[in-house]
Amino acid sequence: MKVTVTGIKADVGSIGGHICPSEELLAAVEKTVAERGKGLIIDHRLNYTGDDVAILMTHDRGVDDEDVHRLAWDAFLAGTDVAKAEGLYGAGQDILKDAFSGNTRGLGPAVAEMEFDERPNEPFLMFTADKTEPGAYNLPLYLAFSDPMYNAGLILSPTGGKGYRFTVMDVDHSEGDRVIELVTPEDAYDLAALLRDNGRFVVESIHSRHSGDIAVSSCTTRLRNIARKYVGKDDPIMLVRTQKNFPATGEILAPFEICHYVSGFMRGSHIGPLMPVKARSSVSFFDGPPVVSCLAFSVRNGKLTGPVDAFDHPYWDWVRERAAEKAHGVRQQGFSGPAMLGIHDLEYVGISHRLDALDERFSVRRGSS
Ligand code: 13P
Ligand code: 13P
Ligand code: MG
Ligand code: MG
Repeated sequence: MKVTVTGIKADVGSIGGHICPSEELLAAVEKTVAERGKGLIIDHRLNYTGDDVAILMTHDRGVDDEDVHRLAWDAFLAGTDVAKAEGLYGAGQDILKDAFSGNTRGLGPAVAEMEFDERPNEPFLMFTADKTEPGAYNLPLYLAFSDPMYNAGLILSPTGGKGYRFTVMDVDHSEGDRVIELVTPEDAYDLAALLRDNGRFVVESIHSRHSGDIAVSSCTTRLRNIARKYVGKDDPIMLVRTQKNFPATGEILAPFEICHYVSGFMRGSHIGPLMPVKARSSVSFFDGPPVVSCLAFSVRNGKLTGPVDAFDHPYWDWVRERAAEKAHGVRQQGFSGPAMLGIHDLEYVGISHRLDALDERFSVRRGSS
């Protein structure tokens, strides 16, 4: 059958700062999806990563379905009501527009969704990250889909060896979706030239060149462009189909052992290593470090089996220790140089105000030019 998998994620409030949602908030979201989703969706699961709640839904209504998106929106509103009643921090933080207008894209919640013909055995992964931005997935996707050092299937499998088609969005462009399509291996260097800039160019989707089928759908939301002011990082969600014509699950996970440095640590203004964590993990040190979790599912006729927690394994305990060392390393230099984001990416105005105020105190020394 043709199934649609929709993942929608939002921060609608958290306990003790930006740590994690409350049980009551999660219960309100779950109740709304379970009760109001009857007859609309086939199955659903809830997860949280740091302070962000993710709703995963399966249905047969295609992408951008108004009723499915409204269901998630209403569930996040129910969560917001609880957050307000409990005095949680950032209640309704990602609910940026007052009224639902047909589709949660552009409103605040992060969306990743795809429609496909179910294979007889259909595994897929849902990644959810906190204290970072959508471009955080650029490097792992580049490596998993185009580098045989991470994806052995590119040389071992005749179908994987045909390469992949990447659709990349320029998220700085706010008047319409500015996108480009590049294919690997031919365009690998051009792709790298774009994907090195995580703040601007973001992988939106990836398709198999062998079958044309969709492998990846990743959110391209930038809350700053929506709200036109700092309202928190745009903590991203991504769906990845695996095996057969796509990379194996372990090939998709492999690049996450790098714990590469991403933007979003403390006040969305610092860089930190992306630490792969177990599902339902909170954040802590310096409001971080940036974290990513991964749930693995199988789906048959829209019914989900799982999740299993892909980063809950002793190997990843060792990786987490390395990520902590990298976080410690960069934090030793506080605000200096690359530890803090450049002035154009800072989502707070404090430094600009200071620089503006200092501007008139500068003078050019006579005779120095
Ligand atoms: P406030 O300035 O509202 O405390 O926000 C800072 C923040 O959320 C970073 O933790
Ligand atoms: P969130 O975007 O996860 O709410 O984090 C805000 C922040 O600035 C934490 O320091
Ligand atoms: Mg928050
Ligand atoms: Mg968050």
